Amino acid sequence: MLVLGIETSCDETGLALYDSERGLLAHALHSQAEMHEAYGGVVPELASRDHIRRVVPLAERVLAQAGRELADIDGVAYTQGPGLAGALLVGASIANALAFALKVPALGVHHMEAHLLSPLLGEPKPEFPFAALLVSGGHTQLYAVRELGDYSLVGDTLDDAAGEAFDKTAKLLGLPYPGGPALAELALRGRDGVVTLPRPMKDSGDLNFSFSGLKTAVLTLSRREALTDQRRADIAREFEHAIVDVLVAKALAALDAAGLKRLVVAGGVGANRQLRERLAGAAARQGAQVFYPDLQFCTDNGAMIALVGALRLRHERTDYAFTVHPRWDLESAVAQDAG
Ligand code: KG4
Ligand code: ZN
Repeated sequence: MLVLGIETSCDETGLALYDSERGLLAHALHSQAEMHEAYGGVVPELASRDHIRRVVPLAERVLAQAGRELADIDGVAYTQGPGLAGALLVGASIANALAFALKVPALGVHHMEAHLLSPLLGEPKPEFPFAALLVSGGHTQLYAVRELGDYSLVGDTLDDAAGEAFDKTAKLLGLPYPGGPALAELALRGRDGVVTLPRPMKDSGDLNFSFSGLKTAVLTLSRREALTDQRRADIAREFEHAIVDVLVAKALAALDAAGLKRLVVAGGVGANRQLRERLAGAAARQGAQVFYPDLQFCTDNGAMIALVGALRLRHERTDYAFTVHPRWDLESAVAQDAG
């Protein structure tokens, strides 16, 4: 089965072709980061309009890369939520129109399910069951994944997501959007032990997170004095340490609680090098293995959507009526699907 995947939930337009037998054939991505940079964050209306411009040319590009034609497509998968309503609607309407024209099924995919399963795009693939840490700009969640379609949310953030905390703190430090990678780079020049920040909820005894206090602590520091370049780097370093400390502690606790030995880490913050290094060491000490998607599939992309499409698309056609779910929790999405 050849599936075209379309991701338009936020500020990346991602298209991909996934073949059930042969795996990922082609993928293409356009990031709007530069367009939104001037505003310090994603402007939803601009995002939707840009997705409209990008989807069709990117679809043509993946078809050309894979040496396939529209007529070869057996199904179209698109991100149905969560995400920005207007941006989601672009992908949903193009996907359904295309599927209707080709007389193939269309499938709305949960964006977080796609992140959860994204390590299946590469090698080695994690076997079920596994625990998953999803750390993106919008989410910081821990799931117990027993099999395809069986996901329990075991931990969540009470306020800011880890990526959001990176982005907001980066902004306070005068760094460009998106702040995560820029802050991580600045942290390389920082010194250890010069600044002290809290490790929010590290010892809370549950698997939940809270990162807004960390951002406030940086705000307080930055108001107290004019920040030199070295001071900014020192703050960035301690901030990164603090977030990574909490993420590592909770991810390992989730493995322990569920009696699991495999951990999948996905979402944009999963690209963070310090997180990867610290998790690798800590998991190995616990006899556990950590799986990541390829760096290019850590952030939003069409390949993970096409993959879920290939795993979940049934052959019957849908009625091409569609809706999007800007706010959508994964457990209820799966329950809906089973019902
Ligand atoms: O998964 P993603 O592309 O989009 C969402 O669905 O949110 O994640 C984007 C987030 C942003 O907050 C970005 O700052 C963060 O991932 N990020 C990083 C790194 N690369 C991306 N945060 C820390 N370190 C990185 N290397
Ligand atoms: Zn995402």
